[in-house]
Amino acid sequence: MLRIGMLTSGGDCQALNATMRGVVKGLYNLCDKVEIYGFLEGYKGLMYGNYKKLKSEDFSGILTVGGTILGTSRQPFKMMGVPTDDGLEKVPAMKETYKKLKLDCLVVLGGNGSQKTANLLSEEGLNVIGLPKTIDNDIWGTDMTFGFQSAVDIATNAIDCIHTTAASHNRVFVVEVMGHKVGWITLHAGIAAGADVILIPEIPYDIKNVYKAIENRNKAGKKFTILAVAEGAISKELADMPKKERKKKMEESPYASTAYEIADLITKKLGCDVRVAVPGHTQRGGSPVPYDRVISSRFGAKAAEMIVNKEFGKLVIMKNGEVTSMPLSESAGKLKYVDPDDEIVKSAKMLGISFGD
Ligand code: F6P
Repeated sequence: MLRIGMLTSGGDCQALNATMRGVVKGLYNLCDKVEIYGFLEGYKGLMYGNYKKLKSEDFSGILTVGGTILGTSRQPFKMMGVPTDDGLEKVPAMKETYKKLKLDCLVVLGGNGSQKTANLLSEEGLNVIGLPKTIDNDIWGTDMTFGFQSAVDIATNAIDCIHTTAASHNRVFVVEVMGHKVGWITLHAGIAAGADVILIPEIPYDIKNVYKAIENRNKAGKKFTILAVAEGAISKELADMPKKERKKKMEESPYASTAYEIADLITKKLGCDVRVAVPGHTQRGGSPVPYDRVISSRFGAKAAEMIVNKEFGKLVIMKNGEVTSMPLSESAGKLKYVDPDDEIVKSAKMLGISFGD
């Protein structure tokens, strides 16, 4: 008999359910008897012992369903050593629940922060396996996370829709794409939808270069311009500031986000008709695209195999098209950024896309 705990943690994404289904189907296939305990709302469920004992029927029909049947929540890694408001010591409480349920393994579907906690629990002696979830595609060590391609699909569609209305009205559009720390979605959706300017956190921009890109299009007779701007896009000026000063400056900004600031600067400098469009959390919603359904199923099957082989303390990853695994300790605490010298950025520049640098 195998007793498996499972939780989804951090911001949700498409294909969380598809991945859990993959794990469970794989386990039912490999083992005679399996009990699945689903913790509710991420690590919170593990802390407070809030769980559901799940049956195989619970995993039927969820391959295409977005969100998570377990619910999720954010539990910042930095706060793991700090007791909850009601005085609960988080890590001891999670270990207690794990032991009480006599679990053989805890499966964590989560992004960077959640995998840091997964590694902490593994170091505390629990058997843990991580699965790389996030629309941001920023988990170190894996070429791909599940959720990313679905988010790129939605962001691309949003920019596609903006394209036609921008052209009709001769407008400049700033489309804000998700990604506070990394620009993967913006880069891919920007290229896929033919954005003229792509601004991402990894390549600080000079606003003068953004003006230039718009003016060059105008000179070439193109009366509209589309900017794909990551939530975390940053100007060179801000990027060069000491961290404390930058934080203060950003807190004092009168704009709702960088996209609105850029839009305002363009309006004032060039006098053109500028609009901002924010697809926001639609990028995390709805059904996973087929690519995500496939990698989630593969990731899930791999996790099942690892559970049976007792390969714990590891994160399931995709490397050069192959599903494999790596120690959680090697991935935890590091982010996978866009490399400004990468071929994909160079190719985009060759096509005439401006990164504002
Ligand atoms: O980490 C996923 C993500 O969607 C980021 O791209 C985005 O910046 C952030 O979460 C939004 O967080 P929240 O759902 O808490 O608003």
